[in-house]
Amino acid sequence: MSSPSDEQIEGGISNNKLHWTNVGVDAAAVVGSSASDKSESEDEDGEDIVKAHQLTDPLVLVDPNSNGPFHSRSGFVGCVRHFKAQDIPSNILSWIFDLMERNMKVMYEKSQDGWDFEDKKEEMTDRNSRYLIVFTDDSPVAFTHFQFDMDYGRQVLYCYEIQLEEKVRTCGLGKHLMTALELIAEKTSLQFVVLTVFRHNPKARAFFAKIGYIIDSTSPSKKEKQDYFILSKQIVAEKSSEKP
Ligand SMILES: CC(C)(COP(=O)(O)OP(=O)(O)OC[C@H]1O[C@@H](n2cnc3c(N)ncnc32)[C@H](O)[C@@H]1OP(=O)(O)O)[C@@H](O)C(=O)NCCC(=O)NCCS
Repeated sequence: MSSPSDEQIEGGISNNKLHWTNVGVDAAAVVGSSASDKSESEDEDGEDIVKAHQLTDPLVLVDPNSNGPFHSRSGFVGCVRHFKAQDIPSNILSWIFDLMERNMKVMYEKSQDGWDFEDKKEEMTDRNSRYLIVFTDDSPVAFTHFQFDMDYGRQVLYCYEIQLEEKVRTCGLGKHLMTALELIAEKTSLQFVVLTVFRHNPKARAFFAKIGYIIDSTSPSKKEKQDYFILSKQIVAEKSSEKP
Protein backbone atom coordinates (compact mmCIF):
# COMPACT_ATOMS: atom_id res chain seq x y z
CA MET A 1 0.00 0.00 0.00
CA SER A 2 1.34 3.43 -0.80
CA SER A 3 1.75 5.98 1.98
CA PRO A 4 -0.38 9.08 2.35
CA SER A 5 1.11 12.30 1.05
CA ASP A 6 2.30 15.07 3.35
CA GLU A 7 -0.93 16.92 2.58
CA GLN A 8 -2.93 13.90 3.68
CA ILE A 9 -1.24 13.77 7.05
CA GLU A 10 -0.57 17.45 7.50
CA GLY A 11 -0.68 18.62 11.09
CA GLY A 12 2.81 17.92 12.23
CA ILE A 13 4.77 15.22 13.90
CA SER A 14 7.02 16.03 16.81
CA ASN A 15 9.65 13.84 18.34
CA ASN A 16 8.24 11.09 20.52
CA LYS A 17 4.90 12.84 20.86
CA LEU A 18 1.59 11.80 19.47
CA HIS A 19 -0.53 14.89 19.45
CA TRP A 20 -3.76 16.35 18.19
CA THR A 21 -3.48 18.03 14.83
CA ASN A 22 -5.90 20.84 15.47
CA VAL A 23 -3.33 23.49 16.32
CA GLY A 24 -3.54 26.34 13.87
CA VAL A 25 -6.87 25.29 12.37
CA ASP A 26 -9.23 28.20 11.85
CA ALA A 27 -12.06 27.77 14.35
CA ALA A 28 -14.40 29.53 11.92
CA ALA A 29 -13.98 26.56 9.61
CA VAL A 30 -15.34 24.11 12.14
CA VAL A 31 -19.01 24.41 11.42
CA GLY A 32 -20.28 23.80 7.93
CA SER A 33 -24.04 23.98 7.74
CA SER A 34 -24.65 22.62 4.26
CA ALA A 35 -27.73 20.47 3.79
CA SER A 36 -25.55 17.53 2.76
CA ASP A 37 -23.99 17.44 6.24
CA LYS A 38 -27.36 16.91 7.89
CA SER A 39 -28.40 13.57 9.30
CA GLU A 40 -30.97 11.64 7.30
CA SER A 41 -33.09 11.29 10.43
CA GLU A 42 -32.55 14.84 11.60
CA ASP A 43 -36.15 15.24 12.70
CA GLU A 44 -35.57 12.59 15.34
CA ASP A 45 -32.10 13.81 16.31
CA GLY A 46 -31.51 15.78 19.49
CA GLU A 47 -30.23 19.31 19.07
CA ASP A 48 -26.69 18.42 20.16
CA ILE A 49 -26.54 15.60 17.60
CA VAL A 50 -27.72 17.99 14.88
CA LYS A 51 -24.93 20.40 15.87
CA ALA A 52 -22.36 17.60 16.06
CA HIS A 53 -23.25 16.44 12.53
CA GLN A 54 -22.36 19.91 11.30
CA LEU A 55 -18.79 19.76 12.60
CA THR A 56 -16.18 19.54 9.91
CA ASP A 57 -13.42 18.50 12.31
CA PRO A 58 -14.43 17.81 15.93
CA LEU A 59 -10.76 17.56 16.96
CA VAL A 60 -10.66 21.34 16.68
CA LEU A 61 -12.87 21.46 19.78
CA VAL A 62 -10.40 19.44 21.82
CA ASP A 63 -7.80 21.49 23.58
CA PRO A 64 -4.51 19.82 22.63
CA ASN A 65 -3.15 20.56 26.11
CA SER A 66 -6.07 19.14 28.06
CA ASN A 67 -4.96 15.59 27.39
CA GLY A 68 -1.26 16.41 27.43
CA PRO A 69 1.24 15.38 24.81
CA PHE A 70 1.26 11.65 24.27
CA HIS A 71 4.50 9.78 24.88
CA SER A 72 4.38 6.24 23.60
CA ARG A 73 6.07 3.80 25.95
CA SER A 74 7.69 2.19 22.91
CA GLY A 75 8.82 5.58 21.61
CA PHE A 76 6.93 5.82 18.34
CA VAL A 77 6.05 9.17 16.82
CA GLY A 78 2.66 10.03 15.44
CA CYS A 79 -0.31 12.30 14.99
CA VAL A 80 -4.10 11.91 15.02
CA ARG A 81 -6.24 13.12 12.12
CA HIS A 82 -10.00 13.29 11.74
CA PHE A 83 -11.77 12.22 8.53
CA LYS A 84 -15.36 11.88 7.45
CA ALA A 85 -15.71 8.47 5.79
CA GLN A 86 -16.31 9.97 2.36
CA ASP A 87 -13.08 12.02 2.60
CA ILE A 88 -10.72 9.17 3.42
CA PRO A 89 -8.16 8.67 0.63
CA SER A 90 -8.72 5.33 -1.10
CA ASN A 91 -5.35 3.89 -0.07
CA ILE A 92 -6.08 4.66 3.59
CA LEU A 93 -9.59 3.17 3.28
CA SER A 94 -8.04 -0.01 1.85
CA TRP A 95 -5.71 -0.15 4.85
CA ILE A 96 -8.70 0.33 7.22
CA PHE A 97 -10.54 -2.61 5.62
CA ASP A 98 -7.38 -4.70 5.65
CA LEU A 99 -6.66 -4.04 9.34
CA MET A 100 -10.30 -4.72 10.19
CA GLU A 101 -10.09 -8.09 8.47
CA ARG A 102 -6.74 -9.01 10.04
CA ASN A 103 -7.89 -8.04 13.56
CA MET A 104 -11.53 -9.09 13.55
CA LYS A 105 -12.39 -11.72 10.93
CA VAL A 106 -11.74 -14.65 13.30
CA MET A 107 -13.77 -12.94 16.06
CA TYR A 108 -16.72 -12.43 13.70
CA GLU A 109 -16.49 -15.98 12.39
CA LYS A 110 -16.94 -17.18 15.98
CA SER A 111 -19.97 -14.92 16.44
CA GLN A 112 -23.67 -15.59 15.91
CA ASP A 113 -23.83 -13.30 12.89
CA GLY A 114 -20.64 -14.55 11.20
CA TRP A 115 -18.35 -12.51 8.96
CA ASP A 116 -20.14 -10.47 6.30
CA PHE A 117 -17.45 -8.09 5.10
CA GLU A 118 -19.60 -6.37 2.46
CA ASP A 119 -22.17 -5.49 5.12
CA LYS A 120 -19.36 -4.28 7.41
CA LYS A 121 -17.84 -2.13 4.66
CA GLU A 122 -21.23 -0.53 4.06
CA GLU A 123 -21.50 0.34 7.75
CA MET A 124 -17.92 1.65 7.78
CA THR A 125 -18.53 3.97 4.84
CA ASP A 126 -21.96 5.22 5.95
CA ARG A 127 -22.30 8.95 5.27
CA ASN A 128 -22.38 9.69 9.00
CA SER A 129 -19.25 7.66 9.76
CA ARG A 130 -16.23 9.52 11.05
CA TYR A 131 -12.71 8.38 11.82
CA LEU A 132 -9.74 9.32 13.92
CA ILE A 133 -6.68 7.85 12.23
CA VAL A 134 -3.22 7.73 13.76
CA PHE A 135 -0.21 8.09 11.47
CA THR A 136 3.35 7.36 12.41
CA ASP A 137 5.78 8.84 9.93
CA ASP A 138 3.75 8.44 6.73
CA SER A 139 1.90 5.24 7.63
CA PRO A 140 -1.46 4.70 9.31
CA VAL A 141 -1.21 2.49 12.39
CA ALA A 142 -4.56 2.79 14.20
CA PHE A 143 -8.09 4.03 13.71
CA THR A 144 -11.36 4.48 15.51
CA HIS A 145 -14.67 4.64 13.61
CA PHE A 146 -17.48 6.56 15.28
CA GLN A 147 -20.79 8.31 14.70
CA PHE A 148 -22.84 10.94 16.48
CA ASP A 149 -26.19 9.27 16.99
CA MET A 150 -29.37 8.83 18.97
CA ASP A 151 -29.36 5.61 20.97
CA TYR A 152 -32.50 4.66 22.92
CA GLY A 153 -33.40 8.35 23.18
CA ARG A 154 -29.93 9.37 24.35
CA GLN A 155 -27.54 11.61 22.44
CA VAL A 156 -24.34 9.57 22.18
CA LEU A 157 -21.02 9.21 20.46
CA TYR A 158 -21.12 5.60 19.22
CA CYS A 159 -17.69 4.02 18.82
CA TYR A 160 -18.10 1.35 16.13
CA GLU A 161 -14.48 0.26 15.99
CA ILE A 162 -11.13 0.78 17.57
CA GLN A 163 -8.39 -1.11 15.75
CA LEU A 164 -4.64 -0.93 16.23
CA GLU A 165 -1.82 -2.58 14.30
CA GLU A 166 -0.22 -5.18 16.56
CA LYS A 167 3.09 -3.28 16.69
CA VAL A 168 1.50 -0.22 18.38
CA ARG A 169 -0.62 -2.05 20.97
CA THR A 170 -0.17 -1.91 24.76
CA CYS A 171 1.65 1.41 24.72
CA GLY A 172 -1.30 3.63 25.61
CA LEU A 173 -2.51 4.46 22.10
CA GLY A 174 -5.91 2.74 22.47
CA LYS A 175 -6.57 4.71 25.64
CA HIS A 176 -5.41 7.91 23.92
CA LEU A 177 -7.91 7.41 21.09
CA MET A 178 -10.78 6.59 23.46
CA THR A 179 -9.89 9.71 25.49
CA ALA A 180 -10.11 11.72 22.27
CA LEU A 181 -13.61 10.36 21.63
CA GLU A 182 -14.63 11.15 25.21
CA LEU A 183 -13.33 14.73 24.89
CA ILE A 184 -15.23 15.15 21.62
CA ALA A 185 -18.39 13.82 23.30
CA GLU A 186 -17.88 16.22 26.19
CA LYS A 187 -17.32 19.21 23.91
CA THR A 188 -20.43 18.36 21.90
CA SER A 189 -22.51 17.80 25.09
CA LEU A 190 -23.25 14.15 24.28
CA GLN A 191 -24.25 12.09 27.26
CA PHE A 192 -22.42 8.81 26.64
CA VAL A 193 -19.72 7.10 24.64
CA VAL A 194 -21.26 3.73 23.71
CA LEU A 195 -19.70 0.67 22.06
CA THR A 196 -20.21 -3.03 21.46
CA VAL A 197 -17.71 -5.74 22.36
CA PHE A 198 -17.84 -9.49 21.77
CA ARG A 199 -18.07 -11.65 24.88
CA HIS A 200 -15.31 -13.75 23.29
CA ASN A 201 -12.88 -10.79 23.06
CA PRO A 202 -11.43 -10.88 26.59
CA LYS A 203 -8.50 -8.58 25.77
CA ALA A 204 -10.75 -5.81 24.50
CA ARG A 205 -13.12 -6.34 27.45
CA ALA A 206 -10.19 -5.97 29.86
CA PHE A 207 -9.03 -2.84 28.04
CA PHE A 208 -12.46 -1.17 28.16
CA ALA A 209 -12.94 -2.14 31.82
CA LYS A 210 -9.55 -0.64 32.65
CA ILE A 211 -10.47 2.69 31.08
CA GLY A 212 -13.82 2.92 32.86
CA TYR A 213 -16.43 1.39 30.54
CA ILE A 214 -19.27 -0.50 32.20
CA ILE A 215 -22.16 -2.62 30.95
CA ASP A 216 -24.77 -0.28 29.53
CA SER A 217 -28.40 -0.41 30.58
CA THR A 218 -29.27 -1.40 26.98
CA SER A 219 -26.88 -4.38 26.89
CA PRO A 220 -28.65 -7.72 26.25
CA SER A 221 -29.31 -9.71 29.40
CA LYS A 222 -27.79 -13.17 29.90
CA LYS A 223 -31.22 -14.68 29.10
CA GLU A 224 -31.11 -13.14 25.63
CA LYS A 225 -28.02 -15.27 24.89
CA GLN A 226 -26.34 -12.66 22.70
CA ASP A 227 -22.59 -12.94 22.15
CA TYR A 228 -21.84 -9.28 22.80
CA PHE A 229 -22.05 -6.64 25.49
CA ILE A 230 -22.95 -3.01 25.03
CA LEU A 231 -20.59 -0.91 27.13
CA SER A 232 -20.71 2.78 27.90
CA LYS A 233 -19.13 5.61 29.82
CA GLN A 234 -21.22 8.55 30.96
CA ILE A 235 -19.67 11.81 29.78
CA VAL A 236 -22.19 14.50 30.69
CA ALA A 237 -25.16 14.43 33.04
CA GLU A 238 -28.63 13.91 31.61
CA LYS A 239 -30.29 17.20 30.75
CA SER A 240 -33.49 17.73 32.70
CA SER A 241 -35.21 19.06 29.56
CA GLU A 242 -34.38 15.92 27.55
CA LYS A 243 -37.29 13.78 26.43
CA PRO A 244 -37.30 10.23 27.90
C1 LIG B 1 -8.07 -3.42 22.36
C2 LIG B 1 -7.10 -2.35 21.89
C3 LIG B 1 -7.85 -1.23 21.19
C4 LIG B 1 -6.41 -1.76 23.15
O1 LIG B 1 -5.51 -0.72 22.79
P1 LIG B 1 -4.03 -0.68 23.42
O2 LIG B 1 -3.33 0.50 22.86
O3 LIG B 1 -3.41 -2.00 23.21
O4 LIG B 1 -4.32 -0.48 24.96
P2 LIG B 1 -3.61 0.61 25.93
O5 LIG B 1 -2.16 0.38 25.85
O6 LIG B 1 -4.10 1.97 25.59
O7 LIG B 1 -4.17 0.16 27.33
C5 LIG B 1 -4.91 1.03 28.21
C6 LIG B 1 -5.05 0.36 29.54
O8 LIG B 1 -5.76 -0.87 29.37
C7 LIG B 1 -4.98 -1.96 29.87
N1 LIG B 1 -5.11 -3.10 28.95
C8 LIG B 1 -4.98 -3.08 27.60
N2 LIG B 1 -5.12 -4.33 27.12
C9 LIG B 1 -5.32 -5.13 28.21
C10 LIG B 1 -5.50 -6.52 28.39
N3 LIG B 1 -5.52 -7.37 27.36
N4 LIG B 1 -5.68 -7.01 29.66
C11 LIG B 1 -5.65 -6.18 30.71
N5 LIG B 1 -5.47 -4.84 30.62
C12 LIG B 1 -5.30 -4.33 29.38
C13 LIG B 1 -3.53 -1.47 29.84
O9 LIG B 1 -2.75 -2.14 30.79
C14 LIG B 1 -3.68 0.00 30.12
O10 LIG B 1 -3.76 0.20 31.52
P3 LIG B 1 -2.89 1.40 32.20
O11 LIG B 1 -3.53 2.67 31.67
O12 LIG B 1 -3.09 1.21 33.66
O13 LIG B 1 -1.49 1.23 31.74
C15 LIG B 1 -5.98 -2.91 20.96
O14 LIG B 1 -5.26 -3.86 21.66
C16 LIG B 1 -6.51 -3.53 19.66
O15 LIG B 1 -6.59 -2.84 18.64
N6 LIG B 1 -6.84 -4.84 19.70
C17 LIG B 1 -7.29 -5.58 18.49
C18 LIG B 1 -8.63 -5.09 17.96
C19 LIG B 1 -9.74 -5.16 18.98
O16 LIG B 1 -10.00 -6.17 19.63
N7 LIG B 1 -10.46 -4.02 19.09
C20 LIG B 1 -11.61 -3.88 19.98
C21 LIG B 1 -12.84 -4.26 19.24
S1 LIG B 1 -14.28 -3.99 20.25
